[in-house]
Amino acid sequence: VQPEQPVVFDEEVGMWHVYGYAEALAIINDPATYSSGVASRFAPKEQTDIAFDGNLSQADPPEHKHLRKLVSRTFTHKMVANMESRIHDLTNELLDEVSGDRFDLVEVLAYPLPVIVICDLLGLPLSDMELLKGWGDQNLEARGQLTVRGGGDEYERRLDYQAESALEMGFYLLEHVGDRRTTPRDDLLTKLVEADVDGQRLTDRQIVNFANLLLFAGHITTTMLLGNTILCLDTFAEADERVRKDRSLVPTLVEESLRYLTPLAANYRTTTRDVELGGKRIREGEVLMVWLSAANRDPSAFDDPHAFDVARDPNPHLGFGRGIHFCLGAPLARLEGRVALNILFDRFPELRTDPEKPPTFLTPPDFTGVWSLPL
Ligand code: HEM
Repeated sequence: VQPEQPVVFDEEVGMWHVYGYAEALAIINDPATYSSGVASRFAPKEQTDIAFDGNLSQADPPEHKHLRKLVSRTFTHKMVANMESRIHDLTNELLDEVSGDRFDLVEVLAYPLPVIVICDLLGLPLSDMELLKGWGDQNLEARGQLTVRGGGDEYERRLDYQAESALEMGFYLLEHVGDRRTTPRDDLLTKLVEADVDGQRLTDRQIVNFANLLLFAGHITTTMLLGNTILCLDTFAEADERVRKDRSLVPTLVEESLRYLTPLAANYRTTTRDVELGGKRIREGEVLMVWLSAANRDPSAFDDPHAFDVARDPNPHLGFGRGIHFCLGAPLARLEGRVALNILFDRFPELRTDPEKPPTFLTPPDFTGVWSLPL
């Protein structure tokens, strides 16, 4: 259903919903008016200072520019490209575990692959995977339990829940950062410790919070991308046939999947001044949920927006955001998607959802993604 208005105030939640493509772009391209520091709008400064210092996604210019410059020096395209053969081998190893002709794609591949990749990059031991999974699940549960209903209060409670798992994980990561300061290795944590822009370096707290962001932002989102793509291909048999016949379409398939079922369905922003948007007057300090998923189906931006077109090009979707906060991990997510999907097509001439076990979906309202996908 296409929303009738691009910008709507939700009395119950006490927040604005933004559905239009042009309006979403206007917001994410104007960080001076629409701040990403939404957490500090609800939680006490001491708490946000601890939990979000170094978290790019909550930072505004000029701090954001400084942080992004520092971490971009470490999270390079070259480093990502070097991961290709490892992602290839890992995908095959994970799929080797499948026995028989039925399996849950999320359990077998879509959940473990991205988390192993990020652990590899950061230099965290795979033996700690269960620990990381526990914290990740706690974080997800906090997001899922508390829908946006209830507005500010619930957002605040959600931050508390998330802070709990983040704190434990923070101590764990801190130990690793300390270790890299004394014993440098060939990993991302060491590069973050050594990163230097004009004599300025990242503090331990900033590295911990950034690593925490990577673990969360880079994990479940990629899980969703893989699961959602296979679900779309199950739903649209012609698209499945077309892409299997012509593998050069895999990159555009990945982009169309991000548009059609946008994993990170919404971003949050808060206004720094009174502003007019989509014909509505928004006051300073109000919170907006920018629905990237709705913008990605806006007919003013996409022809036939509800069709799943594996060859859609151009495809200016907002699945990775836009502007200064454009997803830092987009090249990695695209690479994981391309490699894993190609291997799935090679190994399974046909993949169909299990009619007896329908997929389940993640519950946080701002996520769109399968949580189990029995095939
Ligand atoms: C930012 C989506 C994978 C790290 C973002 C944003 C979106 C997004 C929409 C913008 C948020 C905003 O404007 O507030 C996704 C999706 C992914 C994915 C859909 C998978 C399909 C990854 C991966 C990593 C990553 C694999 C890293 C390992 C980040 C970081 C930011 C970010 C660090 C913050 C950038 C900044 O604020 O400057 N992501 N992401 N993401 N993403 Fe991703």
